[in-house]
Amino acid sequence: MCGISGYTGGRSVYNIIINCLESLEYRGYDSAGIAFTAGNRLSVIKCKGRIADLKKKASTRKINAQAGIAHTRWATHGKPSSLNAHPHFDSSGRIAVVHNGIIENYIDIKDKLLEKGYTFKSDTDTEVLAVLIGHYYEKMAIEKAILKAAEDITGSYAIGVILSDSPEKIIAMRHDSPLVIGIGVHENFMASDVSAILKYTNKVIYLQDKELAVISPERIEFLNSKPHDKHLPVKINYTIEQAQKTGFKHFMLKEIYEQPKVVSNILAGHITSSDKIHFDISGLDIKNIKEITIVACGTAYHSGLVAKYIIEEFARIPVNVDVGSEFRYRNPIIKDDTLFIAISQSGETADTIAAVREIKKHKVPILAVCNVLGSTLTRESSATVYTNAGPEISVASTKAFTAQITVMYLLGLFFAQEKGIFSKTRLTSELNIFKKIPNQQKEIFKQSRKINAIAKKYLNFGAFLFLGRNINYPIALEGALKLKEISYIPAEGYASGEMKHGPIALIDEYRAVVCIANDSFVFDKVLSNIQEILARKGKIIVIATEGNRRMTEFTKETVFISKTNNVYAPLLTTVVLQMFAYYVAVLKGFDVDKPRNLAKSVTVE
Ligand code: M6R
Repeated sequence: MCGISGYTGGRSVYNIIINCLESLEYRGYDSAGIAFTAGNRLSVIKCKGRIADLKKKASTRKINAQAGIAHTRWATHGKPSSLNAHPHFDSSGRIAVVHNGIIENYIDIKDKLLEKGYTFKSDTDTEVLAVLIGHYYEKMAIEKAILKAAEDITGSYAIGVILSDSPEKIIAMRHDSPLVIGIGVHENFMASDVSAILKYTNKVIYLQDKELAVISPERIEFLNSKPHDKHLPVKINYTIEQAQKTGFKHFMLKEIYEQPKVVSNILAGHITSSDKIHFDISGLDIKNIKEITIVACGTAYHSGLVAKYIIEEFARIPVNVDVGSEFRYRNPIIKDDTLFIAISQSGETADTIAAVREIKKHKVPILAVCNVLGSTLTRESSATVYTNAGPEISVASTKAFTAQITVMYLLGLFFAQEKGIFSKTRLTSELNIFKKIPNQQKEIFKQSRKINAIAKKYLNFGAFLFLGRNINYPIALEGALKLKEISYIPAEGYASGEMKHGPIALIDEYRAVVCIANDSFVFDKVLSNIQEILARKGKIIVIATEGNRRMTEFTKETVFISKTNNVYAPLLTTVVLQMFAYYVAVLKGFDVDKPRNLAKSVTVE
């Protein structure tokens, strides 16, 4: 949902803000722009298209700047165009603003400004904010003008402002959209997320909600802080390599291949040498939980669905799962013996955070399962379990999903342990199976050629159906989501038992059906579904367990996973589906890491 970067200091402002912006392109990529100050001159270069187009446009200019801000856009108000691209000027041309988020009441504000005689060049809410700041700046200092404008607006924002009157300053402010400040020596940075500035500094300060920072090369001043807001720099412990492709063609492929390591790290972080599971969530009264409700969106919602099977199976606690955007407007029943869990890779998803705020009104505990340190979700929850998957850059989520479900397996086992449901022997035997998963995921990578060949064969099918049963039903949903979001092929996920209740009408020789048919207590039922599809000339791709010869009688398109207990199979079946979606998109020539219309973190409602 738009990426922002900023720099003030003695090095090349242009190189740094563009370099940082390139790491943020996953957040939006329909237009881009920069603004920079030199002496008392403020200049803007912007265009429709990607950062590469902006670089081409800027290449004819000699840019010697003191400070600069940059923006890559995911359009909300107004189509992608050069006029709607950020930065936007105020009416005097002395102030330039970049913005991530949505100003919900921008029409009212625009009307009032129009009445006062101001005019507008773009269709954006951001230009309205820039003009409003400029309006107040006529009468007060810029910091006060921004704070005053912030009082007038509703919605979410992370903004960066530069002005010709103070060419070394960048002013940053946020509310419900992320913004981080990077600390350098005689220089400072600003960005939508840490990975963008990691090349330059690993010392950061997370700007707090409604806080304003005045950033100069030698100092950072905070205004509008709350008494408990801390400004101690946090040291980021992941490396720049983790945020780079390191030889892989795409981030998505790299992130798929990182999954064995991610799973091993999470296991190592929560299992003691005597096979006890520990989580640092002492504030939550686990033994007395009667019910669990999980809220999340997209892929994270699918991990919530997998978690329902896990927790109900292991800990016998009933679990409800809801998408954030539905939960908040449903007048939900919130009971104080329910544990709420919010799952999010970014920790900035507006719908998930809105659900969390709804829950907080009832003063019940919320556990966040999140990948991003210091994100809004983690700050607003009672406790956090980090998924520690490292930065996930590709818009299509892969390793973050596996990390989320790995954490949910461990939480399920932990609840069973704490409630005394599992004996020591049972727990050890579960963990022995679990610990084999990373190597079993690596076995799937050995079949990459085969998966690629299947992708080639099915590339031009117009629609896909993904079927899974029991704990692999959410994996069918996730497989369909992966395929549609990066290859734009209509794909539906279904519980295989539901096929006869409707989707079977779709089956003919032009329909490809991906069936998750690993060895399990529901295998025979899934096999019957496969036969029903074949009887109607449907084409099938199957995921089966190694050694299952029966499957090869039905189709050559079988990808095998290692033997494991059905409950852990999603950690393997999901990898096959991620690879399948990846190869289809690559073969179709699509931009895998930056699929059309999407953005990595959806910070608007
Ligand atoms: O950052 P979050 O986990 O809260 O994001 C939720 C969804 O927006 C996200 O999972 C989305 O569905 C991905 N594009 C899936 O690949």
